[in-house]
Amino acid sequence: MSTHIGADPAQVAPRVLMPGDPLRAQWIAESFLQDVTCYSRVRGMLGFTGTYRGEPISVQGSGMGLPSMSIYLTELLRDYAVSSVVRVGSCGALTGELGLRDLVLASGACTDSAANRIRFEGLDYAPVADFDLLRAAYDAARTRELRVTAKVGLLVSTDSFYSPRPDLVSRLAEYGVLAVEMEASALYTLAAQYGRRALAVCTVSDHLLTGEQTTAEERQETFTDMVEIALDAVLATPLR
Ligand code: HPA
Repeated sequence: MSTHIGADPAQVAPRVLMPGDPLRAQWIAESFLQDVTCYSRVRGMLGFTGTYRGEPISVQGSGMGLPSMSIYLTELLRDYAVSSVVRVGSCGALTGELGLRDLVLASGACTDSAANRIRFEGLDYAPVADFDLLRAAYDAARTRELRVTAKVGLLVSTDSFYSPRPDLVSRLAEYGVLAVEMEASALYTLAAQYGRRALAVCTVSDHLLTGEQTTAEERQETFTDMVEIALDAVLATPLR
């Protein structure tokens, strides 16, 4: 049993979806999985296991930000032998190429966090998605009749939702970064450390250029598309 996930190792599946919000984890488990059990309620950061097309799948809340994601993900990878993780989250669009509710399949993640500078003693590590998961998600997005566009590209994972320096994020957009969120860089770095697969898929919940925001109803609809893509992708990709 790990410190922040109070479950026996056998209770967590090798394939995991990670939304930021624990209540989203509950909604995903109850809406998409069969034979669901809740394996953790520690600090209200809910975790569930069920089956999807007969295969065991877990859904674990990550919380917001790199530190929270890093705690839950480290325990999943180190103590529960989890093999494939797909973050299903939201992001703020930085480019006119994206509209509200579009999906970003994150090929890599920049960051303004000092976490990797400390980890790599000043070297610039480039956190990237697992190619097989990314390809499977891309194929799933093209096969399914989506109501939105799915784009492959870079995210920036920020430590500051309320940024004191929005100009810096805008500069990254000039270099092709599509959207901002708060967890993917930690997800990709830790997956690499443990030699496992990871992918972040994010729906555009707000647009930083126009100030537009999705309604709760719209977010729910796109979440359905995103979860289906994530489930297709983890099932299509062999375990490590
Ligand atoms: N900033 C950071 N994270 C986010 C945002 C944002 O604007 N929108 C959704 N997640």
